[in-house]
Amino acid sequence: MSHLTIEGVKIERDTQNFAHYPTQAYDNWKQLLKKQLKSIEGKASQQFIEGLTKIITFIEGIPHIANLSQFLQEHTGWQLWPVKGLLESESFFYLLSHRYFPVATFVRSGTDFNYSPIPDLWHDIFGHIPLLFFPAYSNLVEYLSYQYIARQDLKEAIARLYWYTIEAGVCDEGGNRRVYGASQLSSIEEIGYAVSDYPIVYPFDLEKVIDCPVKIDQLQHQIFEIPSFDYLSVIEYEFDRYLQCSSLCR
Ligand SMILES: [Fe+2]
Repeated sequence: MSHLTIEGVKIERDTQNFAHYPTQAYDNWKQLLKKQLKSIEGKASQQFIEGLTKIITFIEGIPHIANLSQFLQEHTGWQLWPVKGLLESESFFYLLSHRYFPVATFVRSGTDFNYSPIPDLWHDIFGHIPLLFFPAYSNLVEYLSYQYIARQDLKEAIARLYWYTIEAGVCDEGGNRRVYGASQLSSIEEIGYAVSDYPIVYPFDLEKVIDCPVKIDQLQHQIFEIPSFDYLSVIEYEFDRYLQCSSLCR
């Protein structure tokens, strides 16, 4: 592992080593892909399907992070940043604010097959990368991350907003609820739950989202639906207004 520095901030970076993956990691990847390609049908947003098509040849087996990163950079300006495991939130958002997407190098083990308590390569690549091809999504990731670093007083609010969009977000698509949140897209159980009748689905409301505590280790019983995928770009403006108001009201 090495440390690299962006603008004077030192952030750890891992090296992907294929010799270190156990045989089971290769099997798990293939099974996850096979099962999830089936389970996203009629549930994932059309943008996700479109983005997935662009990277599918890279992810048929455990992807070479460097190769996928190069492809991503050529088409979106984003790069992948390999990490050993969970980053502390400051480093995580710092990378995102500079268009480096952190991806864990490990693949979940057999016992975590349906759920990984720590984001792994499967979650990070399958759940997030297809949507980075869409500026409405990637600009919001960059914007919220920038604000997280800039507004230490609003860290909790920004983390909630990030969670209920980028990780656990649904949108309306022609009258149907579709998923664009990475934690749901990368989980067979969660994506089914998100489009079922079980969760309480609120129309997206910025202040309500910011007031809603996050529980990452369970199915999402409360979710917020945006009127369309492209509404993600409106959230930036809404949050800017919220920031102006919060500074006026101080
Ligand atoms: Fe994620």
